[in-house]
Amino acid sequence: MCSMTTDDPHPAAVASTSTRIADRVAALMARMSLEEKIGQMVLAQPGEGPPADTLGGPVRDGRVGAIVNVVERDAVSELQRIAVAESRLGIPLLVGRDVIHGFRTILPIPLGQAASWNPELVRAAAAVAAQEAAEVGINWTFAPMLDIARDPRWGRIAESPGEDVFLANRLAAAMVQGFQGESLAEPGSIAACVKHFAGYGAVESGRDYATTNIPENELHNVYLPPFKAAIDQGAASLMTSFSDLDGIPATAHAGLLREVLRAQWSFDGFVVSDWHSIPQLSVHGLTADDREAAVAAANAGVDMEMASDTYARHLAEAVESGVVAPETVDAAVARILAIKFRLGLFDSPPDKVGVAAQAASDHALEVAEKAARQSVVLLQNRDGALPLKPSELSSLAVIGPLADAAYEQLGTWIFDGDPERSISVLAGIRARVGQHLDLLHEPALATSRSRETGGFDEAVAAARRADAVVLCLGEESILSGEAHSRADIDLPGAQVELVRRIRGCGKPVVAVILAGRPLTLANIVDEVDAILYAWHPGSMGGPAIADLLFGVESPSGKLPVTFPRTVGQIPLYYNARNTGKPPRPETVVNIDEIPVRAPQTSLGMSAFHLDVDHTPLFAFGHGLSYTRFEYSDLRLSAARLPLADALIVSVRLRNAGPCSAEEVVQLYVRDPVASITRPVRELKGFQRLRLAPGQAERVEFQLHADDLSFYGRQQRRVVEPGRFQVWIGGSSNAELGGEFEWVEN
Ligand code: BGC
Repeated sequence: MCSMTTDDPHPAAVASTSTRIADRVAALMARMSLEEKIGQMVLAQPGEGPPADTLGGPVRDGRVGAIVNVVERDAVSELQRIAVAESRLGIPLLVGRDVIHGFRTILPIPLGQAASWNPELVRAAAAVAAQEAAEVGINWTFAPMLDIARDPRWGRIAESPGEDVFLANRLAAAMVQGFQGESLAEPGSIAACVKHFAGYGAVESGRDYATTNIPENELHNVYLPPFKAAIDQGAASLMTSFSDLDGIPATAHAGLLREVLRAQWSFDGFVVSDWHSIPQLSVHGLTADDREAAVAAANAGVDMEMASDTYARHLAEAVESGVVAPETVDAAVARILAIKFRLGLFDSPPDKVGVAAQAASDHALEVAEKAARQSVVLLQNRDGALPLKPSELSSLAVIGPLADAAYEQLGTWIFDGDPERSISVLAGIRARVGQHLDLLHEPALATSRSRETGGFDEAVAAARRADAVVLCLGEESILSGEAHSRADIDLPGAQVELVRRIRGCGKPVVAVILAGRPLTLANIVDEVDAILYAWHPGSMGGPAIADLLFGVESPSGKLPVTFPRTVGQIPLYYNARNTGKPPRPETVVNIDEIPVRAPQTSLGMSAFHLDVDHTPLFAFGHGLSYTRFEYSDLRLSAARLPLADALIVSVRLRNAGPCSAEEVVQLYVRDPVASITRPVRELKGFQRLRLAPGQAERVEFQLHADDLSFYGRQQRRVVEPGRFQVWIGGSSNAELGGEFEWVEN
C-alpha cells in the first residue's frame, strides 16, 4: 500500500524510535524533487463539490501534503488512496480539522473545561474527541488553543484556558496527552497543534485580530509558558497567530519561531501558519506582495502554509534565486514527514480505523456529562436556594431563551457536532423530575439576542403559578468564538428586563447562565437567588445541570477567569502587580461622595475607578458548593530553608456541611520583594478532592524554588531567594496564609 514498506520488513515495530524515523525521512527526502518537497508544505482545502474533484489532482501530483476540512470518511479515504497509490512517492496526507472540544459528541467549551480544574478529566475529554475524529480519518487537530485571555470581550476567550498561567500549563499538557495518547501511532490518537503562537489573547480591547502590545517580560512570564508546557508534553505541531507582536506579525516572527521555539525549547514538531496568515503579512504592512510574504514566513520558520497558496506559487523560485535556503525547505519537510511517520501513516492504511462510529459511545457521553458537571460554577446561592428539593415543590417554571436550546448550548467550533446528541436543560430537568413536578416551560424570548418581549406575559404567568423558577439565560453559540467579540458583555437582548419581570413574581429564582465568556452580571445578581454558570456545556449539558439543580451532585467548578462588574474594569485579573497605590476599602471614593465643585484633589490616591467598586464581581478561583468546606491549620515544613530544598505546605480541609462534595484546593504565593515587581498572588498548586460530610483531610503541596522562578530583568529565568507569602483556600481570595524564606544554599 505504501512506498516505504517494501524496504523495511518490520516497519511498525521500529518506527517508534526517532533515529529510525530520521533515517526513513532522509531516505524519502533523497528521492524528492524541490516541487515535491514544497508540496509537503502545502495545507489545502477543498473547493466546491466532492473533495476528490478539487484536491485529487494536486494530491496525485505531489503538490499537496495536507488537507483541511474534509470530514466525510469516504472522501478522506479516497484522497489518502490517491496520495498513497497514485502519487509518485506515495506519501500519505495529514488530515486536519478544528476538533476543539469534541467531534460528534461535544464537551464543554475549553474555558468551561478549564473551570473543572481537573486535568485528568480534560485529558479524557480530548481523548474522546480524538477517538471520534480518528474514526473518519482525521489525524491532526488544530487544538489545543493555549492563548492566555484576560479580556472577556474577546470572542475566543471561549476557546482559551483562561487567565492563569499555572492552570493553563497543567491543562495544556493534559490536552496534548489526550489528543496524542501514549503514542501518535495508536489508533484513536491524532496529532495536536498548539495555537496561536503567540500573544493572540492580548488583542487590544478584545477585538479579534487586533494588535497586541505585550512587554517582553510579560510575554515570557504569562503568554509563552503554556506553549512550552505543551511542547514538553510532545505536541506534534504549532500554529502561528494572526496577530502582530511589537510590529512583527507572528507569522513572520523569527525571534519567536527560531529563537524561542527551536533554539531555546528544542521543538521538533512542525509549524503551520494560520488561515491565510502568510498573504496577510502584506495586509499588515510587513511585506509588499505574496512572494515577499512567502519568503518572510519561510525564513522565519513557518513550515507549512494553511489554505493560501503563496508557498505553492513562490517558494520554488525563491529557493532557486537564493532568497530562501534549500536547507530551510529541507528542515521544514523533514519535520512534517517525521510527524507522518510518527502517526504511523506509512505503516498501516493511513485512514487507520475500521468503521466510523455512528452512535456515541457510552464512554463519550459519560465523559461529556462528567466534564459538564464539573465545569459548572455556582457563583451565588442566597439562603440555600439551591439545590432545589423536589419534595418541597409541586411545580417548577423553566423560563428563558436557552432553556430548550440543544444546539445553542454546544458553543463555538462545533462544525461536526451532532445536535441530535445534545440534551437541553429543559430535557435534562424533565428526565430527572418530570414525573414528580409540574414543569411549566416558557422561552419568553425567541433567542438570547431578541428584544421582542411579547412572550414575557406568559413567562410571568408561569412564574406566578410555579413554586420556583429556573431562568436559563446567556448567549447563543454564535455570540462567541472567532470574529465574535463583543464590546458590551451584559446579557444581550431583553434578558435583563426579563429577569426583573420574573423577580417581580416573588418566587425563588435560580439563573442558569450558558455563555461562551464571562458576562457582566452586576445588573442581575441582586435580582436572582442563585446563579449556576454553565458556560456552553456541550451535548450533555442538560443532564449535568439537572443533577446540579436537584443536588444529585454538588457544583464543584471554579472560575478560570475573573468576572468584572463592568467592561470599564477590563482587563481585570487576579494576578496583577500591586502598583504603588493599590486600592483598599479606605482609599476608594465613590462618585456620589464627591462634593459638588470640590477642589481638585488626588482623592483616595489609589488605583480605582470612581464609579465602580474596585473588586471583581466574582474572583478567579471562586466557586461555591452545597456543602461548607472549612480550611484550618496551615503548616509549613520550614520557616527558612535552602533553595535546594522543597517546602511542604499543607492545610486541614474539613467538610463541615451536609453533603458529600468535591473541592478544588488552591495554593497561591507572593514574592513581595523581587528584582522586578511580581503579581500580588500567583496560583502555584491545586488539588481536587471529595470529602464526605464530617470528613477531614490534610492536603499537602510541595513547592520547589524553581516553581517560583520568573523571567527577570536580564531576560532569562531567575530564582531569587528571599521572603515569600503563601495562602491556601477555595479561591484567589484565600485568607489562610503563612510566610517562609528561601535562602542561598
Ligand atoms: C483560526 C484557527 C483555525 C483555522 C482553521 C483560523 O481562522 O484562527 O484557530 O484552526 O482557522 O479553521
